[in-house]
Amino acid sequence: MFEKFFSQRIKNTPSSFIREILKVTQKPEIISFAGGLPNPISFPQEELKVSMNRIATKYGDKIYQYSTTMGLDSLREYIVERYKKIWNMNIDIDNVIITTGSQQALDLIGKVFVNEGDKVMVEKPSYLGLLQTFCMYRADFIQTKLNDDGLDIEELKKVLKEQKPKVAYLIPNFQNPTGLTYTKENRKLVFEAIKDEDMILIQDDPYGELRFEEGERIPYIGLNESEKNIYLGSFSKIVTPGMRLGYIIANKEIIKMLETAKQASDLHSNIFGQYLISDYLYNNDLDKHIEKIKKLYKTQAGAMISAMEEYFPKNIKFTHPKGGMFSWVTIPEDKAVLDLFDKAIAKKVAFVPGHPFYVNPKKVNTLRLNYTNADCDTIKEGIKRLAQALDEI
Ligand SMILES: Cc1ncc(COP(=O)(O)O)c(C=O)c1O
Repeated sequence: MFEKFFSQRIKNTPSSFIREILKVTQKPEIISFAGGLPNPISFPQEELKVSMNRIATKYGDKIYQYSTTMGLDSLREYIVERYKKIWNMNIDIDNVIITTGSQQALDLIGKVFVNEGDKVMVEKPSYLGLLQTFCMYRADFIQTKLNDDGLDIEELKKVLKEQKPKVAYLIPNFQNPTGLTYTKENRKLVFEAIKDEDMILIQDDPYGELRFEEGERIPYIGLNESEKNIYLGSFSKIVTPGMRLGYIIANKEIIKMLETAKQASDLHSNIFGQYLISDYLYNNDLDKHIEKIKKLYKTQAGAMISAMEEYFPKNIKFTHPKGGMFSWVTIPEDKAVLDLFDKAIAKKVAFVPGHPFYVNPKKVNTLRLNYTNADCDTIKEGIKRLAQALDEI
């Protein structure tokens, strides 16, 4: 009835496949590996309660008032200090803008950089939230293959040479959907390949803090070496997603444009949430809190990997994430993942079929599993059921 009123932009944008799937998978009898929700242990509820009282007393009406587009200074200062400490970044608060989650950061970046038909390089597979957002801006996507150690360098070089993308969007740490992390070596090769290109590089990093296997943090691609790098961070997976707070770190000229885009979008991110998270961060030890989350996710990931090793047929491949929230499963090429999905739902276990992570999904034989939201026994039972479904396709 309203078809003729809707914009071309929205008509061309697929609605989130995962949200559709979640409708099926949310029935209580279903073991769901489909969502991407952080475990509630990642919400420091008691500490946030204390912070709520403190900010109400300390700041009064300010926590309810309109505020600045760039975000709360104290929160931006915290981010600056953390990135200086960890990454030796030469930044100040004018390099940082607070966003309504990283999802808004992606939307603002789309607004600022993507004209209709602009070439945007993403990983294959990539984060569906980015694909959906940039689809609104009519980006022309190019997907570059992701291997176990990071981007496929040969394919990357070919894409750069032949397609000349304007923007590249990468998730180097514990990627969504695959759980894969670029090695240090791969990051060097990627930077070698792109450093002389006329291209903006976005590194989206909501999971980087969640490395639960041994090993050091691996520096970003071209860290401190390129003004064309844009870094995205988020409090969703390490404090709370409900506050919807993330941030962008970039060159000041870029930040100015993002600020203008954000003014037009929502004036500013929720200021109550910003005061709350800021107070929490200054009065607690974030790293200690992150340790708790990592310990839990390590156990849950371990339970899923060992159950897959025990129960899955040997021709099924899956990633062994060293952090983050997901494992990515590849079934034989002649099988269709949607057939598996139907069999799995009949056995009351759910996952996300690989489709929404590809630009042009055709024959899809991959799927995403999330392990952060079930206890180890439930994970084992769910994987057993999935193995039975695999036997039936
Ligand atoms: C790669 C990636 N980027 C961005 C987001 C959005 O996160 P936020 O909650 O900060 O908006 C997610 C959420 O799952 C994600 O996986």
